[in-house]
Amino acid sequence: MLMKLPALDIRFSSRLPSHGLLDSDISHCEVTEQALAALHHRIQSGEVGFARLPDDRETPRQIAAHARRMKAENFLLVGIGGSSLGAQALFTALRPWYHNWLGKQRKGARFFVLDNVDSDLVDATLRMLKPRETVVNVVSKSGGTAETAANFMIVRRWLMTSLGKKFADHIVATTDPEKGELLNLARQEGYATFTVPPDVGGRFSVLTPVGLLPAHYCGVSILKLLDGAREMARIGLNEKLPNNLPLLSALIIYRYLRRGRTTQVFMPYSSCLQSFADWYRQLWAESLGKKFDRHGQTVHAGQTLLGSIGTIDQHSQVQLLREGPDDKVVFFLQVGKSRRETKIPKDLKQYPSSSYLGGHTLAELMNAECRATQYALASDDRPSLAMSIPEINEYTIGALIMFFELQTAFLGEMLGVNAYDQPGVEEGKLNTFALMGRPGYEERRSALKRFEK
Ligand code: PA5
Repeated sequence: MLMKLPALDIRFSSRLPSHGLLDSDISHCEVTEQALAALHHRIQSGEVGFARLPDDRETPRQIAAHARRMKAENFLLVGIGGSSLGAQALFTALRPWYHNWLGKQRKGARFFVLDNVDSDLVDATLRMLKPRETVVNVVSKSGGTAETAANFMIVRRWLMTSLGKKFADHIVATTDPEKGELLNLARQEGYATFTVPPDVGGRFSVLTPVGLLPAHYCGVSILKLLDGAREMARIGLNEKLPNNLPLLSALIIYRYLRRGRTTQVFMPYSSCLQSFADWYRQLWAESLGKKFDRHGQTVHAGQTLLGSIGTIDQHSQVQLLREGPDDKVVFFLQVGKSRRETKIPKDLKQYPSSSYLGGHTLAELMNAECRATQYALASDDRPSLAMSIPEINEYTIGALIMFFELQTAFLGEMLGVNAYDQPGVEEGKLNTFALMGRPGYEERRSALKRFEK
């Protein structure tokens, strides 16, 4: 099956080896009808807001106005999980390699992230930056995540030490509009603030100021990003199969999952999509990895997602994918052309194992390797999906973000789980509070101490 949507030019195909899926498995059915209806219902009832974010024209205007007022050479994001992965994905995909090292020709601020509470990372980052040239964006929807709080306390003191009373002019807090300690602190100390809509969870928040503010500062056209996302939302919420690509891909993966394919290998053929794979992995894992379904039955749902980068992981993972446990489905993402073509010179004539490459572009080699790997897997009866985009730009990345968010939401409905909570993560957060001595967590702390004995 090969589909092409002219407005978007995203192609999608599913390779179905003999033990794969039949056409009847992936055509319109009760499963897709229910998933679509359920998502529409959640959107209309105000429970789920991510698919409507591209319609918000006001937030990009506010972001642009803010960036005009608060200019910066460096943009330092302090946040973790859904509060940092999306911004990192946008930066890595849409800014040139070595953006931070570019001199005068650099468009936008340099970008730095403090996500982990790793002393080496934090120390090295702060040594590199000058406070007066830096905007610090602390991002936490709950306003109470330990890693973000710790890193922000260090960064806040760093700003204060150097800038005195003016430190607050360098801080933007992105958090819940109504509650949380970060919001209270921002009000008390006078930080600029942006909000995460209450109906948009952390891992679905990249198209809110969580991702859009850093992206805008670093030179990404957030309006084009939202255009691509809006077009994919239109497709995902209105089109029928087979043109509804997010729904179709969710159905294919659902069928494979039901046949025991408990791992998905996401393999984009572009190094620029490495962080995008990290973002997708979190979206998939936290949304679908659930012990209980919506009726309270124990299901242990979910699918392990491994991020792999073509061609690099052909030399690392493909051996396992072809000959190891037959429990995976591979999702290839191919990119038509690079921003700049690099030609391989017609040299080394006397060395035939190299010279045949001369005259081709690197993109041609990359794409040939992607197709070759798909074929190699199919010839071993290992199933894969393949999607291709014409190039990496704001529009296609916006479309991909919405594609994967919708796909995740649809699969959540098919599996009958709540894709929008994360009780497993919350538990770990509460245990950390207890171990680090947060008041009110004494009982939990005693239980943990007993466990560790
Ligand atoms: O997707 C999620 O909800 C989580 O990954 C959160 O984004 C992450 O735990 C950080 O939470 P917060 O934004 O509240 O600091």
